[in-house]
Amino acid sequence: MIRNAVIDSLMNRKSIREFTEQIPSEEEILTIVRAGQQAPFAMQLGSVIIQRNRETNAFNAPIQFIILCDLHRMEKVMKVRGWNREASNIHSLLFGMQDAAYMAQNMVTAAESLEMGSCFVGSALYMSEKLREDCNLPDHVFPLVILAMGFPAEDPPVRPRYPMEFHLFQEKYPDFPEDSVKRAMDQMDRGYLEQNYYKKAGFMIPLSDKAREEKFTFDNYSWTEHISRKMAQWSTDPEDLLEPLRICGLSLNEKRD
Ligand SMILES: Cc1cc2nc3c(=O)[nH]c(=O)nc-3n(C[C@H](O)[C@H](O)[C@H](O)COP(=O)(O)O)c2cc1C
Repeated sequence: MIRNAVIDSLMNRKSIREFTEQIPSEEEILTIVRAGQQAPFAMQLGSVIIQRNRETNAFNAPIQFIILCDLHRMEKVMKVRGWNREASNIHSLLFGMQDAAYMAQNMVTAAESLEMGSCFVGSALYMSEKLREDCNLPDHVFPLVILAMGFPAEDPPVRPRYPMEFHLFQEKYPDFPEDSVKRAMDQMDRGYLEQNYYKKAGFMIPLSDKAREEKFTFDNYSWTEHISRKMAQWSTDPEDLLEPLRICGLSLNEKRD
């Protein structure tokens, strides 16, 4: 693999969940947000709110950003031009989520280059009612994810990823022979076990089906079991996310709210 300063920064990044007392300067914050803004966009549908209350920020970070999928601002521009948004909510959201996500990842990389660390918090998706109130969000603005940021007070190892054969497919989608699935799972599980990741966090997702017997301890519970439990047991009702969208005036099964 080729290495240079940019690649090294991307390869060494890890989520940071413990932060020092140091507060990022306004110049650092503006630089990070400006670099985020410069990400590729479909329609510039990403915007950000910054929160500076350590007490309430995720991981007590000195700053956190609420990353917004912002259709309201686009509608403001369109209104000046004499247009209404007729594009469906699903269309606008799928493009808007991309704009917001690429922007957010640019912010992560920019922060990294300024020796800061960050961690996304996915629960924002379920928190639209609270975030609308806290942040005065108008209709058609959907909080996508929270990004906690500050100067790292921990230096965890880089987390593992799937092997390249399980990630990059040549021209056609593979049929995933069983041994390649097992190899990929083993790479992930060994990587996280070597870091004592779940043991340190003291977190194992409980089994919700009482008929299933718990066979894992922190000595063998790792990423593939953790993610499988999440995807098998959490948020099984589509209403869990349709409702937060509806609260933001972004019903998915109506053409227009
Ligand atoms: C959309 C999204 C949501 C996430 N939500 C959380 C979260 O709620 N809590 C957390 O500790 N980490 C969260 N993370 C961070 C991931 O756990 C982390 O990126 C992953 O374990 C890989 O580790 P690394 O970033 O250190 O490489 C989230 C990441 C993404 C992209």
